[in-house]
Amino acid sequence: MEKIKNFEEIVNHLKATGYVYQGSEIYGGLQNSWDFGPLGVSLKNNIKQLWWNEFIKKQPNNVGIDSAILMNPNVWKSSGHLGGFADMMVDCKNCQSRFRADKLIEENTSITQLDGKSSEELDEIIKTNNIKCPKCNSNNFTNARAFNLMFKTFIGTLEDSKSSVYLRPETAQGIFVNFANILRTTRKKLPLGIGQIGKSFRNEITPGNFIFRVREFEQMELEFFTHPGEDMKWYQYWVDYCYNFVLKLGIKKENLRIRQHSEDELSFYSKGTSDIEYAYPFTSWGELWGIANRTDYDLKQHQDGSKKSLEYLDPYTNEKFIPYCIEPSVGVERMFLMILCDGYEKEMVNDEERIVLKIHPSIAPIKAAILPLTKKLSDESLKIYHDLMQEFDVEFDESGAIGKRYRRQDMIGTPYCITFDFDSLQDGAVTVRERDTMQQIRIPISELKEYLKTKTKF
Ligand code: GAP
Repeated sequence: MEKIKNFEEIVNHLKATGYVYQGSEIYGGLQNSWDFGPLGVSLKNNIKQLWWNEFIKKQPNNVGIDSAILMNPNVWKSSGHLGGFADMMVDCKNCQSRFRADKLIEENTSITQLDGKSSEELDEIIKTNNIKCPKCNSNNFTNARAFNLMFKTFIGTLEDSKSSVYLRPETAQGIFVNFANILRTTRKKLPLGIGQIGKSFRNEITPGNFIFRVREFEQMELEFFTHPGEDMKWYQYWVDYCYNFVLKLGIKKENLRIRQHSEDELSFYSKGTSDIEYAYPFTSWGELWGIANRTDYDLKQHQDGSKKSLEYLDPYTNEKFIPYCIEPSVGVERMFLMILCDGYEKEMVNDEERIVLKIHPSIAPIKAAILPLTKKLSDESLKIYHDLMQEFDVEFDESGAIGKRYRRQDMIGTPYCITFDFDSLQDGAVTVRERDTMQQIRIPISELKEYLKTKTKF
């Protein structure tokens, strides 16, 4: 795929406009940690709110929860994370750099799909292909060994094995362990979806590509429980639903694909997994969203581990069984990055370059900017600004030529600019300029709220 967008340029743009800052910057930063500035936090909140509306609020079968980040360590024993949530890594014996064995192989050979390969098999591939260290060019690697990705910490004052706990590496397990609580307290029937948005932590061996792979990120996960016989129907339903959600956000179709996992790539408990992938500018395709049919694996594991029944009693057939679970899981940062990469455009307008972030109005951090044509009109314009800010995220800008002010708003993705001019004093109307087409229309001030409400709907 042709890389028409320069990733470094996009990253610099996001740093310069206050979307993202380097974490702990004044202390020289902390490797691969990022802070979200005023525009960034607003975009993130809008993404999360939209997901919540579309996956929880507007879904009659679904409810939400907010579970704790620190959980009983037995949760991770039952889920398999303590034993198996690991990446295979190798160290270069010459320069001590550390690499994920699968990435090293993928980047240096045409071999892909290395999931499930043993350390011996990975060592063999590295040797027979004479793979060299990308940092120092030596081919002297340690054997591949498993590295658990969970961050470990301690509860209380004693740092011993009895007090150790883990920062959750996914939000999903907080849902599984609350399955019985939700059934009991909501009296919901199958199919039943339980969703959650929250921070997850993974001690990634090779974080990078800006906020694509980080050690601290947010997930939006839905665990959708169904009758075992209906699982594949719901699996397909959620694959289509997630894909259409991304299309509705205005992401270009040619930059998206659904990749179904092959049999040998599937986890042993999965009956089907599809990734929605986006053509991020730094790679050919990168995972945005994973949708998996996890069968009854997780609930069974927690039933066995906790010795508490997690069976469902069907009120119509009196049948008792462990439900199957379909899981659409997506990272907020991955969606954030896709939206900004897809929306970033450079155009020539009247021989001048314009940088514009064409992001869907429903999630744009600022919905409209109120711009008095001259400072003499500021007082009247401020009245509109104060009125609109009760319902919308709006900005007021009175400094500089109007063309420059339009460009400033284009650069941060504001879909509408509202200009108050001398005619406005007479006709009670303003000029509204649309970001993508740059077309201007005249609208009565009294109709502005209704206009923005309609235009910023998802
Ligand atoms: N509960 C299933 C689960 O966590 P996953 O494929 O490991 O599955 C789901 O993660 C999603 O979380 C990914 O599709 C991606 O969007 C996001 N994600 C995973 N690891 C990430 C990381 N290190 N940095 C940013 N986002 C990440």
